[in-house]
Amino acid sequence: MGIISCVTPNTINLTNTHILSYKRSCFPSLSYLQYPFQKPKNLTKIKSTLSSMATTNVEEPNPSSSNSVGENDLLIVGPGVLGRLVAEKWREEHPGCEIYGQTVSRDHHDELIKMGIKPSVKGTQFAHHFPFVIFCAPPSRSPDYAVDVRLAALNWNGEGSFLFTSSSAPYDCNDNGLCDEDTAVVPIGRSPRTDVLLKAEKLVLEFGGCVVRLAGLYKADRGAHIYWLEKGTVETRPDHILNLIHYEDAASLSVAILKRKLRGRIFLGCDNHPLSRQEVMDLVDKSGKFSKKFDSFTGTNDSLGKRLNNSKTRKELAWEPKYPSFARFLGISE
Ligand SMILES: NC(=O)c1ccc[n+]([C@@H]2O[C@H](COP(=O)([O-])OP(=O)(O)OC[C@H]3O[C@@H](n4cnc5c(N)ncnc54)[C@H](OP(=O)(O)O)[C@@H]3O)[C@@H](O)[C@H]2O)c1
Repeated sequence: MGIISCVTPNTINLTNTHILSYKRSCFPSLSYLQYPFQKPKNLTKIKSTLSSMATTNVEEPNPSSSNSVGENDLLIVGPGVLGRLVAEKWREEHPGCEIYGQTVSRDHHDELIKMGIKPSVKGTQFAHHFPFVIFCAPPSRSPDYAVDVRLAALNWNGEGSFLFTSSSAPYDCNDNGLCDEDTAVVPIGRSPRTDVLLKAEKLVLEFGGCVVRLAGLYKADRGAHIYWLEKGTVETRPDHILNLIHYEDAASLSVAILKRKLRGRIFLGCDNHPLSRQEVMDLVDKSGKFSKKFDSFTGTNDSLGKRLNNSKTRKELAWEPKYPSFARFLGISE
């Protein structure tokens, strides 16, 4: 099979940027409340309420905005690794659409322009609202995540879809047990960090948007395996079960949800091949594709994980991942 098509060399050398970006995106505690599937609420009323709540910080007019909006135009809040893959897939399906990207800084605007994404910084006021909006910025750089999500929601015109990329962390399971879309989630108020995230997810659902709870994202040079390779020895237990989804698959799943124009729904994104931490690093070693060597997990008392299954999501959206497991991604037979 055409494995690791995104890996140019046969071995992968880590840079500090890879490690830092993974740490930033993954280690804020991601815990969320699960909400029942909801019917859309009165968008006009909600939008008017949100508008009055919003302290919109208009940083600049967006010179690239026009007064007209195409029916498939897309705003990506947080056009990072996942957001850019969503942009590529969206353009393949909707040639001629305009794609906009909102960031915290201007650091990557040149890259976005080269990809045909019209960049702006958050708080920018657009000349129009967008039929499709995806929020795929991690919480780590938001002083108030819910405010950022709310600003994104205010840029949605309510017609196509609004999708928030969340995490599978809220499912309340820490005994390596089975877990799916219907599993209960951690109670509200368990931790201040959780509450921040719950607020963001709740806002999206009340606004009529959808949520996709993603397992651990990875690609050749980014993800848990890269973080652990860099550390060498990690003080967590080896038998904790974790769940993965390749960035490309998270993008194709996001696009599948966006296209359906659903309201107030929660989906789960994972590859249905949970692995223990030790199994992940054994596969990395066996693949021979990484220049660094991992030493060991040394923890004994930390919590266990969960085994995710998203069969319901797959069936409803007629979606399957390109990379059915981490082993297959690495070209190792299971
Ligand atoms: N990593 C995981 O394992 C994992 C697991 C589950 C869910 N998720 C979720 O998956 C999504 C995508 O993750 P990713 O790894 O693709 O993210 P990423 O590459 O780290 O995203 C970085 C991008 O987001 C922008 N950004 C950061 N905070 C922002 C904010 N408050 N408002 C607007 N833009 C902001 C950055 O702007 P600059 O260009 O200025 O830096 C950059 O464009 C996130 O929602 C994350 O929470 C991740």
